[in-house]
Parts: sequence; structure tokens; C-alpha cells
Amino acid sequence: MDVYEAVDSRRAVRAFSDEPVPRAVLERVLAAARRAPSSGNLQPWQVYVVTGEPLAGLKREATARARAGDPGDEREYPMYPAELATPYLDRFAEAAAQRYAALGIDRQDPERPVKITALNTEAFGAPVVLFCYLDRAMGPGQWADAGMYLQTVMLLLRAEGLHSCPQVMWTTYRETVGRLVGADDRLVLLCGLAVGFEREGAPRVRTGRAEVTETVRFIGT
Ligand SMILES: Cc1cc2nc3c(=O)[nH]c(=O)nc-3n(C[C@H](O)[C@H](O)[C@H](O)COP(=O)(O)O)c2cc1C
Repeated sequence: MDVYEAVDSRRAVRAFSDEPVPRAVLERVLAAARRAPSSGNLQPWQVYVVTGEPLAGLKREATARARAGDPGDEREYPMYPAELATPYLDRFAEAAAQRYAALGIDRQDPERPVKITALNTEAFGAPVVLFCYLDRAMGPGQWADAGMYLQTVMLLLRAEGLHSCPQVMWTTYRETVGRLVGADDRLVLLCGLAVGFEREGAPRVRTGRAEVTETVRFIGT
């Protein structure tokens, strides 16, 4: 698989099979992902890979919290600005509509938020979730580094025939996650990354993208 194919075939997959992911494959991907760039080569990410019974327990605990109507742990960082204007709000709404249609969740369903959270707390059936933390002392530059690192991991997963879904949702259950992985207060959870093989026959969503001219300007020739 070349890089274009890896980029093009990466999607946020929300239906995983329970086929286990060999540990050796995860180790190969995470060893290769160390080549991701970071400003000053700080490599500020701290990653925990959770699978097997510990992951099953985490899913049970988080899902029970979601189903009990627990509003979740206080957020440590805002995922979006308080006000989202055009064109961002339109892109957000379009992707959300596509996502829920594929998951078979009706827009009008009063249970929609609980159902969405419960799918997330099950990590969409993924047998592996990788949790990416940063040292609390790190700033926006290092948060950008962590994003580049995670994209590198996601593309390498494609080269192994695997799929993934980044999940900021886990920050809502960050205390439950932190207790499991033993993350101390110096660490902030950036997000989870569900990893696994895609479930056969699951509906596929290919989210749209803005035209290049909307986001890129060439200056000079
Ligand atoms: C940092 C980050 C956090 C995300 N958190 C979630 C999440 O909690 N749940 C979810 O279903 N998708 C989540 N996504 C996936 C996005 O919704 C998805 O990447 C976007 O709609 C574009 O779709 P695509 O990745 O399939 O191209 C997240 C993506 C990123 C980059």
C-alpha cells in the first residue's frame, strides 16, 4: 500500500470485528510511528495500549456510566470553540448526519445521545484502544505534535490491513481510563484510538472534504 492509498483508505471506522490484533503487529506499528516529527524532537506523546480483559472491564464501566446518565468527568480541554460558525458548523453538521445515518440512529430519537455515547464506550467493538496522553506542561505546539503522531499511527495501521477511529469521547471518562492505565495527574488525556479489523458488511461512511481552493492558497509560481 502506498502513502496515497493509506491516506485515502483511512476512515473513522465505527464497526469492528472481534478478530484479535496480533501484539507483534501493534509493536511493529508503534515502533515505526516513532519516526513521526515533533518540534524540537520532544516526542511528547505518552501512549497506553489497552486490550483483553482490562479493555473489556473499561468498556463495561464506561458503558454503565453512560447508561446511568452520568454526565461524565469535567473536560480538561475544549474539543471545539464555544461558537462554531460557517464553514465549520456546516462541515460538522454534514459529517454528523452521515455518521448517525450509517449507525442507524435517527436524528429525532430522544435516546440518541445515550446511544451514541454507548457505541463510543464500546469502542465500536474494537479489540484494542490506544490512549494518547500528554504531559500537562506541554503547550499547543506539542498538542499538534501528538496529532501528527496519531495520524502516523493511523496510516501505518492501514498498511497492516487495520482500521481505527480516534475518540475524544474517552476524555468524558478520563478518570475511569486514568485509574486503569495508572496515568498520574501530570498527564492529560488527548483522546483514545480504537483499533481493529473492520466488521464485514458494516455500512461505510466516506465523509466529504472541502475543495482544495477553500483551504489552500498558492502564493507565487
Ligand atoms: C481528535 C479526534 C477526535 C475524534 N473523536 C471522535 C469520537 O469521540 N467519536 C467518533 O465517533 N469519532 C471521532 N472522531 C472522528 C471524526 O468524526 C472523523 O475523523 C471526521 O468526521 C472525518 O471522518 P473520517 O475520519 O471518516 O474521514 C475524532 C477525530 C479526531 C481527529
